[in-house]
Amino acid sequence: MTLSGRTKLAGVMGWPVAHSRSPRLHGYWLQHYEIDGAYVPLPVRAEAFEHGLRSLADLGFRGVNVTVPYKEAALAACDQVEDSGHRLGAVNTIVMGDGRLRGFNSDGFGFIENLRQGAPQWQAQKAPAVVIGAGGAARAVVAALIDAAVPEIRLVNRTRARADAVAKDLAGPVQVLDWPERGRALSEAGLLVNATSLGMTEQPPLELHLADLPRAALVSDIVYAPLETPLLAQARARGNVVVDGLGMLLHQARPGFEAWFGVAPEVTPELRRFVLAD
Ligand code: ATR
Repeated sequence: MTLSGRTKLAGVMGWPVAHSRSPRLHGYWLQHYEIDGAYVPLPVRAEAFEHGLRSLADLGFRGVNVTVPYKEAALAACDQVEDSGHRLGAVNTIVMGDGRLRGFNSDGFGFIENLRQGAPQWQAQKAPAVVIGAGGAARAVVAALIDAAVPEIRLVNRTRARADAVAKDLAGPVQVLDWPERGRALSEAGLLVNATSLGMTEQPPLELHLADLPRAALVSDIVYAPLETPLLAQARARGNVVVDGLGMLLHQARPGFEAWFGVAPEVTPELRRFVLAD
């Protein structure tokens, strides 16, 4: 794409950012929709984060994504933060205009949109959901499930105190269970989500007996490397519908792209293939 004097600029700030798939993802959309724009990696050290953010706004950037380890610092740096950011204590998308920084968090949106696209038959209100994990990703998942009116969310984490903190912070129908209870927690569930890093390449798998999980339940993983985690393979083999984690990454990028570049982008099979081919 040829750049011009009017090129709209955005990027991703983090440390490191070399592994980020966001430039490839946004680059695909920019080309696909023939937009005069650029989305670049912005590695920034901790001491320069806030100054860097302000400088980008001064230089006319439309905004940025913020990734590890700056999502909490981004919340503090913004002039205005939407509910999604306050609720999760973290901001992953910033929109710049008139020198002001407006932040929000699109991870919960990405999670639920991925489920809706991958399993349109899933009915949130019908049955309990089981969420494994209590880190930042699990918070986004639980918040999104509360908003989707899931009647009961059973939250299980190796370190129970972190799950208790999530339940306390995100007021909703969340029931915390002990780690050894995770197999029994699956009975009558309509959805199971792995929101831990277990199952990721070079990590141990999530050990979970699925015997009590109804066959009609949907199973999803936030891990997308590998695309089919041991959990998803196990669930698919017994007949459960599975939704992999790549879509969460792709869908969470949509609100930022639309705000910066003025086009609501689509998540398509071709985009999935393009991002995976990296
Ligand atoms: P993120 O913010 O990306 O979700 P995180 O805060 O490091 O990352 O959370 C990682 C999650 O994976 C946590 O739920 C963690 O459990 P603990 O809170 O007990 O640490 C979970 N996790 C990581 N390795 C694990 C393991 N070997 N067994 C069980 N849970 C594990």
